[in-house]
Amino acid sequence: MQFRLTTDRQARSFSASSTLTAPSNEPFKTHLPVKHSEPTVHSFYHKSTSTFSYVVAGSPYDAESGVLDVVIIDSVLDYDAASGSVTTESADGLMSFCAAQNYRVTAVLETHAHADHLSAGFYISRSLHVGHLNRVANPPLIIGKGIEEVQRRFAPRYGLTQGDLQGSFDLLIDEKMNLRVGNSRINAIHLPGHTPDHMGYQIGENIFTGDVVFLPDVGSARADFPGGSADLLRASIHRLLDASPQTRLYVGHDYPPPSRADPKCFSTISETQHENVHLKNMDDFVQRRLIRDKELAAPRLLHPSLQVNIRGGRLPPPGPDGVSRMQIPLTAGSANLL
Ligand SMILES: [Fe+2]
Repeated sequence: MQFRLTTDRQARSFSASSTLTAPSNEPFKTHLPVKHSEPTVHSFYHKSTSTFSYVVAGSPYDAESGVLDVVIIDSVLDYDAASGSVTTESADGLMSFCAAQNYRVTAVLETHAHADHLSAGFYISRSLHVGHLNRVANPPLIIGKGIEEVQRRFAPRYGLTQGDLQGSFDLLIDEKMNLRVGNSRINAIHLPGHTPDHMGYQIGENIFTGDVVFLPDVGSARADFPGGSADLLRASIHRLLDASPQTRLYVGHDYPPPSRADPKCFSTISETQHENVHLKNMDDFVQRRLIRDKELAAPRLLHPSLQVNIRGGRLPPPGPDGVSRMQIPLTAGSANLL
C-alpha cells in the first residue's frame, strides 16, 4: 500500500506495511519547517466535520534509530448521526500513519471540548501500547484545566454523574506546566472565549489554535456557547497576535468560501493581522461577534459531541442492555407536549 503525501514544497510518497490502512481523513499534507530545528507538522482534514487534526513531530529523540516523538492534536471519531454508527477509520489512519513514519506518539492533546465533532482522544490514547503501532504505552490524553468548568456545566444536561467523568483525561494542564515533544517545548496558552477550557499549543513557530481565529477569509470562532465570551475571545486573539509575524497559526477547522477550492490549515500571524476579515477593526469586534453569533444555528453535532467530549471521547455509559445512547435535551417553548 502506498500513502501519498503532498508537502508544501514538493510531493513525496512512502511505502507502508500492507497491514496499515490509509487515513480516511484526506487530504493530508506535510508542512515542512522553515528552519531545520523546527517541528514538522502533518495536517489531516476530516471532511464531514471540516476539522483539522495534527501530528506534530518534535526535534529528534533518537537520531540513531530515526525515531521521532510526536503529539496528536484534536483527533476525530467518525460518527453518523442518522444511524448512530461510530467508527474509527480516521483515528486508525492517524495511528497507522505514525507507525509507518517511525513516529512515537507521546501525548494526545485536545485544544478544547469540541461541540461539532466527536474526539478520538480516548480511543487513540488507550489503543496505543508498546509493540502495537507505538513504543509508549497509552500516551496521556491532555486538555486544559478549564474542562472541569465545562464538565460541571454540561454533565447534568446529559445525565452524567461525577463518577461517569472519572478518568476521562489523564492530565489537566495550565500554562505553567512543562510539556515537551522530543526536544521541543510545548507552550500551553490559555485562550478562552470560544470555550472556557480552550488551550492553544505553541511548538516552535507554530501555534495550534483550535477555535480562536480561522483562515483570513473565514474569520473567527463563535463565542456564544455556555461559558463562551466575545470579550474573552477578543483578548485571546490579541494574545495570539503577540507572537512573531512569521508564526503559523494552525486552525481547528476550515470552511472554505466559494472563492477558495481547498481547505487550508494555517496562516501566519502577519497574514492574520492584515487580512483576517473579522480582525480588520478590533474596536467593534465584540459587537460584530455578538450580532453574528445570534444568526448562527446550533452545530449539527452539538449534543452528541459535548456528551462524548467532556468524557475525553468515550461514548455515554451503556444501559442495562449494554447499548450506549446519546441524550438530546429537547426544548418545546410554551407548547405542552409532555
Ligand atoms: Fe470548537
